[in-house]
Amino acid sequence: MAIIIDGNATAKALKNEVKAEVELLMTKGAKRPPHLAAILVGEDGASKAYVGSKVKDCELVGYKSTLIKFEDSVSESELLKAIQELNEDEGIDGFIVQLPLPKHIDQENIIQSIHPDKDVDGFHPMNFGKMALEMDAFHPATPAGIMELLERYSINTVGKMAVVIGRSRIVGRPMSILLGSKGNPGDATVILAHSKTKELEKYTRQADIIITALGNPGFLKADMISEGAVIIDVGITRVDDTSKKGYHLAGDVDFPSCAPIASYITPVPGGVGPMTRAMLLKNTLKAYKNNY
Ligand code: GUN
Repeated sequence: MAIIIDGNATAKALKNEVKAEVELLMTKGAKRPPHLAAILVGEDGASKAYVGSKVKDCELVGYKSTLIKFEDSVSESELLKAIQELNEDEGIDGFIVQLPLPKHIDQENIIQSIHPDKDVDGFHPMNFGKMALEMDAFHPATPAGIMELLERYSINTVGKMAVVIGRSRIVGRPMSILLGSKGNPGDATVILAHSKTKELEKYTRQADIIITALGNPGFLKADMISEGAVIIDVGITRVDDTSKKGYHLAGDVDFPSCAPIASYITPVPGGVGPMTRAMLLKNTLKAYKNNY
């Protein structure tokens, strides 16, 4: 039976470390704590929940936070103006624009308008490029959180074969870069699989590490993995049910069939998700230290 990677406990430990560091900085005479801002557009339930949790996390570790809300109908130029103001506000160390954005807004334009020094999501091409070149940069929070889990669970990735399923800019593609970069975690031989990949099982069955970021509940089954594989599940899909909430969260991995075969496995919820939020705090602390 696999060791279940506890993302909640690891994120809590990380947040306590961040909190202790902020307290130390303040006792040493810092004039203000780190300040994270978030822009939220529209009424999407998942986005509202994510941003709400991010604001709550800030309180928990002693950061200031600012939430800026816009209606779905906001124009791209209004959004760009708000971003410009945040870029110029010296009291704000970093900010995020919660994705996805409404279809009439060019997401790429928005991301590129964020000053790279305040891009704590690590989505700006400048940060992405620096990450790919193994230069100092903000790393996207989800893959960075997975690297942190691998490190804290002492999972050796050097020389291992890793298959990343999904090539999104937020998870899959940066994940493949980080796992293939020098270091441990890192130094893995990485296959980045996607919707056009043929015979995916051929690769996953050989993999020492599998990271799924598909949003396809229960996709990865026991017959697709080998004994002792490390399974990291990034999928979080709301599946409607008859519960009071009306839905539950489901991962990409068929947990009951894979857990007995794997060496390590992340649950959904309680695996990668909490780490994403914790890493955003870590990136904000980095921005603060650079800015302050
Ligand atoms: N939407 C889903 N995940 C994320 C994230 O990490 N950052 C932002 N800005 N939007 C998201």
